[in-house]
Amino acid sequence: MPLNVQLEPTVMVIFGAGGDLTWRKLVPALYSLYLDHRLPERFAIVGVARRSQDDEAFRRRLREGVDTFSRRGRAEEQAWDEFSAGISYVAEDFTAPAAGQALSRRLEDLDRTWGVRANRVFYLAIPPGLMESAASQLQRLGVCRDCKRDRLVVEKPFGRDLASARDLDRLLTGMFVESQIYRIDHYLGKETVQNILAFRFANSLFEPIWNRLYIDHVQITVAETVGVEGRGDYYDRSGALRDMVQNHLLQILSLVAMEPPVSFEADEVRNRKVDVLRAIRPIRHEEVHRVAVRGQYGSGTMGGKAVPAYREELNVDAASSTETYIALKLTIDNWRWQGVPFFLRTGKRLHSKVSEVSIIFRPAPHQLFPSAAVESWQPNRIVIRIQPEEGIVTRIQVKQPGTRFLLGAADMQFRYREAFKAQPPEAYETLLLDVLRGDATLFMRSDQVESAWSVISPLLDVWESVPPADFPDYPAGSWGPEAADLLIAKDGHSWLQPVVQEGQGPG
Ligand code: BG6
Repeated sequence: MPLNVQLEPTVMVIFGAGGDLTWRKLVPALYSLYLDHRLPERFAIVGVARRSQDDEAFRRRLREGVDTFSRRGRAEEQAWDEFSAGISYVAEDFTAPAAGQALSRRLEDLDRTWGVRANRVFYLAIPPGLMESAASQLQRLGVCRDCKRDRLVVEKPFGRDLASARDLDRLLTGMFVESQIYRIDHYLGKETVQNILAFRFANSLFEPIWNRLYIDHVQITVAETVGVEGRGDYYDRSGALRDMVQNHLLQILSLVAMEPPVSFEADEVRNRKVDVLRAIRPIRHEEVHRVAVRGQYGSGTMGGKAVPAYREELNVDAASSTETYIALKLTIDNWRWQGVPFFLRTGKRLHSKVSEVSIIFRPAPHQLFPSAAVESWQPNRIVIRIQPEEGIVTRIQVKQPGTRFLLGAADMQFRYREAFKAQPPEAYETLLLDVLRGDATLFMRSDQVESAWSVISPLLDVWESVPPADFPDYPAGSWGPEAADLLIAKDGHSWLQPVVQEGQGPG
């Protein structure tokens, strides 16, 4: 199978090779890149984890993952055999002082076989507590020393608060140069999230009205139907604020609110994004209860089936105060956005899986139609649908057909699937290819990570010191706690009901 000859020989070393991420996302994404001939001609994957197993057992497990989760369906025999020939496994406990010899040898062997010093990508798909030992071992072994060839991919969560994120950053930047570090937020690899840039800056239609003069408010919803999916151990120490808001939602917000960059250079785009995070008005501790709501799901019904409450999930404390839902109002203090509230919400076990950004415009300045005509008037809105039905919907007012002059709302729809008849790549495909190419545009820089932690720090502080009195406060399968409706109602708005496609709701 022809492969990408422009990319240099590369070895991808995955720490946490036995984990869910490797199985569900990373290897299916790499396999898909392989099928699209995007991987370098000489490419190898080395899995590293504690458990001892041989290469064959590791490959079998990865194949199961591809068969189950790949957007391309089950792997075909020949393609899989070719792809997996480059996969091997090294059992090492990186917390042990002298670890890493087997990995070093494997890397040297590959260089020898290929006759070149290959590029090395070290993917740290491991819990935050293990980052330090893995990074220190890499430094000690000297296998990640070439600033041009060697890269480190760091999965979220990047720290658990501002102080620990700074510590981790100090540690990593003390060992590697910033251009080697790729802090991943998979939302930035989603086709529709990237399309926010194209939509805003490749069209002359929208940018002139993308500001406080025309926009009334913005809503960002990332709703999930899943619960904690066996990740109770991690999630109960994290919660929705750290798991989703600090990264995914604030990244989406930055793209929606940023100023036009001068070019598509990685640092230029990232500078404009970090400007937004810095312009978010700091939340004072005493106003946390006015601008933010947290919630936790109780038992309920999803897809006709009874599902347990969060506190009954595996590895979750039976009296847990961890939030599984957040609603938040943010204000951006700059010329463009002064006075335009941004409402964010995200949660698990909600009614439907849907992620979208809604831009709600101000009413027409003068209402010339008789009041009877405008009874069902609705403001214009643009909805950027991130998933699952990727596209953009623009709501306009039209005359309803008939002899009377009545206004009604109509939607102009753009659907990726219909327009391009192609399946968008998975976020991890895009991001992994960017790492191989050395393009950091879609990755987070340390100042972005820190600014995002600063935005949510007051919420972390206040909520940690005042345990919630009313958890669980929303049933699984609902749209979240009532308090979230009250939060947005204080500004005279309501959450827009996402357009739910068949089969997405709890039934
Ligand atoms: C991950 C969170 O980063 O994003 C998960 O840790 C969450 O809790 C997931 O379920 C959502 O990603 P997606 O791509 O399914 O929207």
